Amino acid sequence: MSEAYDPDNLLDRRLAKPATLQLHYDNLFRRERELLAPRLGPGGDALSVGCGWNPGRHLFPAGAWRITGVDLDAAKPLTLAAEGVLERGLGGRAGELELDDAAFDAVLYRLVLHHVAFQAPLAPVFVEAARLLRPGGLLIAVEPGRRHPVGAALALANLAGVGSAVHGTPDDLPLSPRTLLREARAAGLAAELHALTYSWRRMAPALQRSLWALDAALGSRSRAALFGHTLMLVARKPVAPNEALNGSRSAWARRR
Ligand SMILES: C[S@@+](CC[C@H](N)C(=O)[O-])C[C@H]1O[C@@H](n2cnc3c(N)ncnc32)[C@H](O)[C@@H]1O
Repeated sequence: MSEAYDPDNLLDRRLAKPATLQLHYDNLFRRERELLAPRLGPGGDALSVGCGWNPGRHLFPAGAWRITGVDLDAAKPLTLAAEGVLERGLGGRAGELELDDAAFDAVLYRLVLHHVAFQAPLAPVFVEAARLLRPGGLLIAVEPGRRHPVGAALALANLAGVGSAVHGTPDDLPLSPRTLLREARAAGLAAELHALTYSWRRMAPALQRSLWALDAALGSRSRAALFGHTLMLVARKPVAPNEALNGSRSAWARRR
């Protein structure tokens, strides 16, 4: 994140058993792979914006995919590149990246846009992703949703000015699923939204596991997806101008 983090916040003090958190993280990785596998090509060039210490190798396996990592905190991508985790690491701000047009087959924002939304409007970031993608390439965003009860509660805590005391940081804004879809479509991309999970990393393991059945049953239905705790936006750049947008929307609607 880009704002200071207070580790002595309410939720981390009370509800943060490492094994419980890890269960959620493992499930997220599994769901991300499961949903992207049929949509991603077999390999190519990926850009991970706000790569932090986890640039998304679980989605873009080494050998098949070359990953460029970019982060506001340049030390992270530079270290990962020096260690061979990334093919290239750069400092940079989403929306202001000096990278060539149509250089990537996938652009990933994993748990990044909800920080960006605290700093600036999201629209330039989506326009930039559309510029950086090759025709047929995918913008992928993994973000907390504001319509899930936990997301709604965090949004309220932020509004009340107690975000840091409750969950450690003020710049953790759960996002509106409709906004994600709208911004992607405004940038000319054919967008679909999925709920990766309805569970929350601080829930008891048995409850997390029982909610996983909902993820599989409802997570890709267009209305139910809006209420996910963690959302995945997948937005494809049309292969030819005006060609893919309508087609993909109706394919998405048919799957409901
Ligand atoms: C919660 S971490 C996510 C890291 C990683 N993508 C992951 O999946 O674990 C958010 C990252 O976004 C970076 N970040 C925040 N705002 C950014 C911006 N405007 N441009 C680029 N990176 C940003 C932060 O420095 C941080 O490394």
